[in-house]
Order: sequence, then C-alpha cells, then structure tokens
Amino acid sequence: MRAVCPGSFDPITHGHVDIIGRAAALFGDVIVAVGRNSAKNYLFDTDERVELARAATAQVDGVRVEVLSGLLVDFCRSRDAGYVVKGLRFASDFDFELQMAHINRSLTGLETVLLPASSQWGTLSSTMVREVASLGGDVGAFVPALVAERIQQKRKSNDG
Ligand code: PNS
Repeated sequence: MRAVCPGSFDPITHGHVDIIGRAAALFGDVIVAVGRNSAKNYLFDTDERVELARAATAQVDGVRVEVLSGLLVDFCRSRDAGYVVKGLRFASDFDFELQMAHINRSLTGLETVLLPASSQWGTLSSTMVREVASLGGDVGAFVPALVAERIQQKRKSNDG
C-alpha cells in the first residue's frame, strides 16, 4: 500500500524522519510530499526543502520525496496513494489535522492516519528549530547533520 506524508518540512527534523520511517514500516511505500502552506513564510525554498528531505530519508527503505503542488487529494490520486500519514504532537495539531482529514476525505475519500509523535520528539517543531537557529543556538540535536549545516550557512549568509 502507498501512503503520502505531506508537509512543509522547513526544515525536516528528527520528528519528521521518525514519522516517515514509521509510515514506511506500516505501508511499505511512502511518498514524502513537500508542499507550500500559503500562510507560512519559508526559511528554505522548495528545492532546498526537497533536497534536505531526500538526504534525511535516504536510508529509509521505500521512501521517495516529491514536490506537492495543488491539492493534496489530487497529488494522492495521481500517484495511486489512498492514505495520508501525519504526526500528532499536541491538541492543537489534532484540531488542525482533523479539519484537513475531514475535507480531504469529503473531496475524494482520501483516508488520513494520525500517528502519535514518539515521546523523544513529542514537542519538536520546525518553527522552534528556526527560532533557536536564528538566535545563534545549536540545533544539532533536533535535525539531521546536513540540515544543521545548511541552517548555519544560511545564517552566515544572512548576517553577512
Ligand atoms: O507541515 P505543514 O505546513 O502543516 O504542511 C501543510 C501542507 C503543505 C501539507 C498543506 O498545506 C497541504 O496539504 N497543502 C496542499 C493544499 C491542500 O490540499 N490543502 C488542503 C485542503 S484545504
């Protein structure tokens, strides 16, 4: 069975990689769909977010990364994927994901599977990672090494 893990991944964190790996173990075939949420300003552009997601999931069998443009339901239908998998950390995630799950199921019958985040990454977010990094903190514990490196480079080029 094929599932899609959609998100902004700005940048991909250990929490995302954990959910993607667990989705791959459940479904066998996972597409990580790197999308754009019109309400968000991004640190990394789409190509960078895709590149970092590819590097971060390169060791996970059955996973590939693509750009998501347009509606998630259309993306899933065109790739013959009947399931979306998303991670849940706290109640505010649930409120948002429930709305998305309902609208996506109403549109095409696309099912959503919500996986509780592993306790280790239970409150980690890309937003926090960006905040810590922008103020000069070390994000090495929260993101894959290449992501930490790229954040550092971006900071330096923005400062300079
Ligand atoms: O990690 P994020 O920022 O919550 O990811 C959001 C994303 C890109 C997955 C979401 O905005 C999305 O699915 N966009 C595609 C457009 C769509 O289908 N929206 C849902 C119906 S309103």
